[in-house]
Amino acid sequence: MNRYEGRRVLITGGGSGIGRATVHRLLAEGGRVHAVDIAEAGLKATAEHAAAAGHADRLTTALLDISDENAVREGVAAATRALGGIDVLVNAAGILRSAHTHRTTLELWNQVIGVNLTGTFLMIRETLPALLAGDRPVVVNFSSTSASFAHPYMSAYAASKGGIQSMTHALAAEYSKQGLRFVSVAPGSIESGMTTGSGPGLPEDTDWSLFAKLAPAIGQGFAGPETVAGVVAMLGSEDGAFITGTEIRIDGGTHC
Ligand SMILES: NC(=O)c1ccc[n+]([C@@H]2O[C@H](COP(=O)([O-])OP(=O)(O)OC[C@H]3O[C@@H](n4cnc5c(N)ncnc54)[C@H](O)[C@@H]3O)[C@@H](O)[C@H]2O)c1
Repeated sequence: MNRYEGRRVLITGGGSGIGRATVHRLLAEGGRVHAVDIAEAGLKATAEHAAAAGHADRLTTALLDISDENAVREGVAAATRALGGIDVLVNAAGILRSAHTHRTTLELWNQVIGVNLTGTFLMIRETLPALLAGDRPVVVNFSSTSASFAHPYMSAYAASKGGIQSMTHALAAEYSKQGLRFVSVAPGSIESGMTTGSGPGLPEDTDWSLFAKLAPAIGQGFAGPETVAGVVAMLGSEDGAFITGTEIRIDGGTHC
């Protein structure tokens, strides 16, 4: 499938997990990709993998903290120059921090909201002019099953993802007449740095009975990040042409 031939894609969080899998999927489908992340080693590994697959000529990478307004302004300008325009923005960067809510400091709350929700907003705001000049433009945002279903100890994270989901609906209506689509994916139980590397960092006295309903119904447990990358690829292509202002849950039926 070469759905991305001639398509210019900016991806955040491209240095790990689902973001990295999406970089590789869109390169494999013929796209030109600019991947950003705060993790230098992660970006290097993504670039090495792309080179091994013979796609080095269509990938550029850059360090970028999506929660830093000035850095986003400069980073998006650099991405637009590197790609010669932007048709697809994939907002995969995010952080998960868990804690009892009565022990959640304002600093932790602001960190999670600042990266996940405000960072996604900043990326969209700065990329909008390029997207509106782009070809069949699309923004794919990253929500989570925690936006709609109960995930204990993750109230800040859930709030940030609920905000992204609501914002996606508002944006879809606002820019619909310019042909710009906005969609969220809501993954759950996907292997990545967040879930199997640094992990969700649950409290030591976690009550595991609260997680009784949080297991996939199909498969052998967690799925690989490529399962989400394939859905992102569909949404950003013409196969998703009639999809906007909604979210797609990819959780192996955990919440079916
Ligand atoms: N893995 C899951 O089961 C799951 C479930 C629901 C939602 N998600 C969402 O999927 C997205 C991808 O996460 P993942 O699971 O691949 O985790 P991951 O930790 O492997 O990848 C997240 C990436 O975001 C980057 N990042 C963090 N803060 C950043 C910042 N300020 N600026 C730029 N980059 C930053 C990290 O360095 C990392 O490379 C996230 O938005 C996450 O919330 C994942």
